Amino acid sequence: MTARSDLRELPSILLGWFDRNARVLPWRGPIGMKRDPYRVWLAEIMLQQTTVPHAAPYFEAFTRRWPSVNDLAAAPDGDVMRAWAGLGYYARARNLLKCARQVAARGGFPETSAGLRELPGIGPYTAGAIAAIAFDEPSAAVDGNVDRVFARLMALKGEWAQEKKQIAAAVAAIVPARRPGDFAEALMDLGATICTPAAPNCLLCPLTEFCAARTEGNPERYPIKPAKPAKPVRFGHAWVHLREGKVWLVRRPPEGLLGGMLALPTGVWQEGALPEAQPPMRADWQASGEVRHVFTHFSLRLSVWQAGVSRAPAGEGVWADLAQESGLPTVFAKALAQATGGTIRPR
Ligand code: ADE
Repeated sequence: MTARSDLRELPSILLGWFDRNARVLPWRGPIGMKRDPYRVWLAEIMLQQTTVPHAAPYFEAFTRRWPSVNDLAAAPDGDVMRAWAGLGYYARARNLLKCARQVAARGGFPETSAGLRELPGIGPYTAGAIAAIAFDEPSAAVDGNVDRVFARLMALKGEWAQEKKQIAAAVAAIVPARRPGDFAEALMDLGATICTPAAPNCLLCPLTEFCAARTEGNPERYPIKPAKPAKPVRFGHAWVHLREGKVWLVRRPPEGLLGGMLALPTGVWQEGALPEAQPPMRADWQASGEVRHVFTHFSLRLSVWQAGVSRAPAGEGVWADLAQESGLPTVFAKALAQATGGTIRPR
């Protein structure tokens, strides 16, 4: 049997499935209820590079503390960066604040994807998702999940960059005028719960009749993407100065990797081999092993050192209480936990 290649009836079948199977998530209300653009925007920014289970507690904490975009716009930068700690991709937090302040200044979110795209931190996918979910604009929101679903439906075998364009056009052609936001979220849910990367559950899929990959018998073969180049490895040292239950932290420069976040002092991170150990001050430094962390463009191996000290090293920084949640990005939380025999505090 061949798959149905005419996808015009797909949206109504998918929406029927969504009505029965939509995930209950903190940024969603009952199906059919109008959604608060602030909550939709905040969720989409958090979900850009973070999984649903990891983002959900952060979403709850942010909306409890800053219930509206005006509240968030009025928050001090340091509070927001601290609340974001552990979510990763910290440029998102800086853009989040910039965006909140622009939206507060203009008196609300723009209501079209074109208008939304003008705001900091909002690319074509996020603009399409917010416009569809919050404002019922029939725009396509094609993320990695949707790419995978359509690469399978269409059994795409060509060059991936070209295929992505074909997918965007195929989705755009069938976005329904009614319930475009539910359609976007239904595709996300299908990709996350049924049409999963490794072991798609085709028996439960509402779209099998449209799925060419299923007809071929090997849906997990798709999408066919070029192999990713191996990440370079960088090496560095992290210095844990301890004094009376506190640890010395510095603020990273505002731009660049982990920009604006609190951090352990580290020297340069160098590719290929460990740089010479140059502690910020003389002390009885003890080696505490290595922590590894993967960033988008490289992997990092940090040699962790700890020492009890009687004063602060030179330069700006703060003594942070070890017993309190420190607001550190995960890589430094891991290094600190390793040096002190502690644990990374769950949020
Ligand atoms: N991933 C990105 N946006 C999402 C949403 N609104 N619901 C579920 N998963 C998502």
